[in-house]
Amino acid sequence: MKRITKAVFPVAGLGTRFLPVTKASPKEMLPIVDKPLIQFAVEEAVDAGMTHMIFVTGRNKRAIEDHFDKAYELETELEVRGKQKLLDVAREVIPSHVTCIYVRQAEALGLGHAVLCARPVVGDEPFAVVLADDLIDSSPGALKEMVDVYERQACSVIAVEHVAREETSSYGIVDCGDAVGTERLINAIVEKPDPAVAPSTLAVVGRYLLTAEIFDELDGVTRGAGGEIQLTDAIASLIQKQRVLAYSFNGKRYDCGSKLGYLQANVQFGLRHPEIADELRAFLHRIENEG
Ligand code: UTP
Repeated sequence: MKRITKAVFPVAGLGTRFLPVTKASPKEMLPIVDKPLIQFAVEEAVDAGMTHMIFVTGRNKRAIEDHFDKAYELETELEVRGKQKLLDVAREVIPSHVTCIYVRQAEALGLGHAVLCARPVVGDEPFAVVLADDLIDSSPGALKEMVDVYERQACSVIAVEHVAREETSSYGIVDCGDAVGTERLINAIVEKPDPAVAPSTLAVVGRYLLTAEIFDELDGVTRGAGGEIQLTDAIASLIQKQRVLAYSFNGKRYDCGSKLGYLQANVQFGLRHPEIADELRAFLHRIENEG
């Protein structure tokens, strides 16, 4: 069984739900207090043992490349001013043993298409797909837990969680057999089903461990829900040929692709941040009392 060392981060979406901030800036660089979403995602992949970070980027995404690059001017300036702590923060964005690779998706044709763009770099290996706007607050990270499942089961593993029935039309929804611990065999998967016809309320969230055979399936996929090439449709083909497991991760997920989820994550992480936790808590009490 091949070890998973490569993580694909599709970051080429338009981020329309966050306009106007996403007009010229990537959604994935939105901060949770002081750290961008994409850095949380990369840290989770590094903790899960991955060494090659493959970003599928598009227009207006240069800030992501700059974020994971060395910042000479900033580092020199901080050094001159003797700001060692801040210098460490800037330098420790990514560990030195990790390689970053950038692939371009010329047109935002959908998540499935973005993943297919990474094929020349991933090659014939199992790999992870991480959507930075699904922020999962857990220790160990969700991806690490999924790698453990992959190493036991030697097949694709997809993270899922229950959502309210009225929300099924925003997610890929799986139909599974009974749970065996935290895993279930997926029988069927459908993208954004109407609540009335959704096969369950178990929704796919943005963590996938996939075998390389997914690329052949993606190659054959035509435009699906929303006119986009959907990763879900390729997974639907893959389950006809291989076992694919759904995994219920531990921890709390914040949908940071939505304004409300993003703000909730900021409050939650802010209440834990050593520099601001006390004052933020006091502020929240004050505005609650002011009613
Ligand atoms: P979303 O469905 O959240 O789309 O994509 P989006 O464009 O980012 O945001 P909205 O819905 O317009 O507000 C899920 C993930 O897939 C990536 C996005 O960057 C995001 O991480 N994606 C989506 C691509 O890389 N390419 C695409 O063509 C579509």
